[in-house]
Amino acid sequence: MDLHKDIARILISEEEIRARVEGLAKEINDDYGDKPLVVVCILKGSVVFFADLVRRLTMPVRFDFMALSSYENARVSSGIVRVAMDLYETIEDKDVLIVEDIIDTGHTLSHLRELLYSRAPKSIRFCTLLDKPSRREANIHPDYCGFTIEDHFVVGYGLDIGGEHRQLPYVAIMK
Ligand code: IMP
Ligand code: MG
Repeated sequence: MDLHKDIARILISEEEIRARVEGLAKEINDDYGDKPLVVVCILKGSVVFFADLVRRLTMPVRFDFMALSSYENARVSSGIVRVAMDLYETIEDKDVLIVEDIIDTGHTLSHLRELLYSRAPKSIRFCTLLDKPSRREANIHPDYCGFTIEDHFVVGYGLDIGGEHRQLPYVAIMK
């Protein structure tokens, strides 16, 4: 099977991703120092990025996972966010870093921020691999951002279309 047949072109290569993830981890390590951190992977899209990022963090880290859905297999955001799977542990009085694949309209993270702040964490920051600021509708700015991209629909390195193409090792634009 040719995994690459629906790809128009590679936007961000494996090598570029590797270098940027290293840079992001350095920023995060410098900011938090030795403070323990709860790192939250937003399933499913962030799982590849999360796995690469956490291996470069140097503070004591706890993993947690959350699944949200705002897209029903479509290319357009509904603006409605559902918690499909909640965190396993409490975040009260913890420093929390949310790891997301991409910020598009910002509705997903805006709803998530509201929900998590109600649980009284010490702090919440957002780390996203990709940011599409031209599409923003909600007031959300990532604290750590891998790459700012134009308004393209992208897949790979965790990102999907209709649940597929997540395993591509690079970020690509669809045909
Ligand atoms: P937002 O609520 O509009 O910010 O949407 C965020 C979610 O939409 C992301 O976590 C992705 O699951 C999905 N999404 C937005 N843009 C893309 C894209 O270009 N490719 C794949 N998924 C995307
Ligand atoms: Mg997602």
